Amino acid sequence: MDMLLYNIGELASLSSGDVSKPLSGAHMSDYENLVFEPGQGILISDGLIEKISPDEELLDEFAPDMENNKSSYVELMNIEGKAIIPGLVDCHTHLLWSGDRSNEIRMRQNGLSYLEISEQGGGIAKTVESTRKSSQDDLKSIGRKNLSKSSNYGTTTLEAKSGYGLSVDSEIKLLEVAKLLHGKNQNVMSTWLGAHDFPKDKTHSEYMEELIHEQLPFIAENKLSNWIDVFCEPGWFSLEQTELLVKSANEYGMKSRLHVDEFVDSGGLALAAELKSCSADHVGYSNLDSRDKAHNSGTMQVFLPGTPYVLGKDLGNGINECLENNWNFSLATDFNPNCQTLSLPFVASLATHRIGIDPLTALVACTRNPASSLNAELPKTVGSLYEGGPADFNILNSQYVDYWCQTPGDNPIYKTYFSGSIVKS
Ligand code: NIG
Ligand code: FE
Repeated sequence: MDMLLYNIGELASLSSGDVSKPLSGAHMSDYENLVFEPGQGILISDGLIEKISPDEELLDEFAPDMENNKSSYVELMNIEGKAIIPGLVDCHTHLLWSGDRSNEIRMRQNGLSYLEISEQGGGIAKTVESTRKSSQDDLKSIGRKNLSKSSNYGTTTLEAKSGYGLSVDSEIKLLEVAKLLHGKNQNVMSTWLGAHDFPKDKTHSEYMEELIHEQLPFIAENKLSNWIDVFCEPGWFSLEQTELLVKSANEYGMKSRLHVDEFVDSGGLALAAELKSCSADHVGYSNLDSRDKAHNSGTMQVFLPGTPYVLGKDLGNGINECLENNWNFSLATDFNPNCQTLSLPFVASLATHRIGIDPLTALVACTRNPASSLNAELPKTVGSLYEGGPADFNILNSQYVDYWCQTPGDNPIYKTYFSGSIVKS
């Protein structure tokens, strides 16, 4: 039976212009064109949005026999004046890993850098050790648990990286698990991050050989991922190694999403722009010229403010630079053993309450914009609410759309729907 939502508060459809394209600058906070006033209704059929119109018109047409919130033609849902926003899109997560690195906070507070912690046996290598030991079933249940957390915070589409295996078998294991998790309550889209670090049991050149001649061909041929990611940062993968890896993956038709300029400006974003990466993430220290180049080459800059937040660092000025210059950008959680949040409302609160961007801009950065870097691999464009599009949306505990990122530590989401079915109630 079709479903008709009525008595909606503000409705952030975010559907101005071509919904598959990102918005930038002042267009991200254009309330007039992105948010409907209260009083709209949404008709949902077969998991898709059939119609968005004033609710009185929809009720007259589709529920002419309505009485006591019931109709024999459609399932009626009184939203009680609450606001609706699109399903959130988290375009950067390290979803699958096992183990515990909570002891590292003390090392950081004692002045050890990320690189020094990893040199002392902590960091990525420690998570790799425990993840390699976990069975596929263990990882599946970890994945389900993590996904249910992210769904609880309103995420309906999520990117999941491998990268805590660093061997042929374990990288494949992680990508296979991600594949199994796709489509149940969320879209789960996997990225191969075999180049997250160098494993302890191989020399750098041996591992580069393995990545290019063993991991990559298997992953591409078995369609385990459409994207390659590389941790391009001094101390990890160099610009030259990153370029070689991305170009090798491009030959198999894979595109790239890269970790760049997290700790220093090493030219990573400029390289991502040159390689026409779909997205370049962290980008905390990138310079203005690289940001401009990235925008012009269609590379989405993804800021991950949760990471500098947990590392005790400044959140930087990159987001404001993007806004001032009309450069496309997104926000994501970067969920990982250090930054253990799958809450985009929390990340957007950091951007709103600490960096000063407005809640609607933050919402576009957590929906339509990140979706534009993932849509090519989905049957329909996600990240906004439009007729013909997937019925992935969140009902908030407020009449105002702006509420969505203003409850740090508390969940602003009342209910979540994915493909027209309830996944959080
Ligand atoms: O995106 N910087 C690289 N990778 C992750 C963190 C990895 C880890 O510390 O386990 C990130 O922040
Ligand atoms: Fe990351």
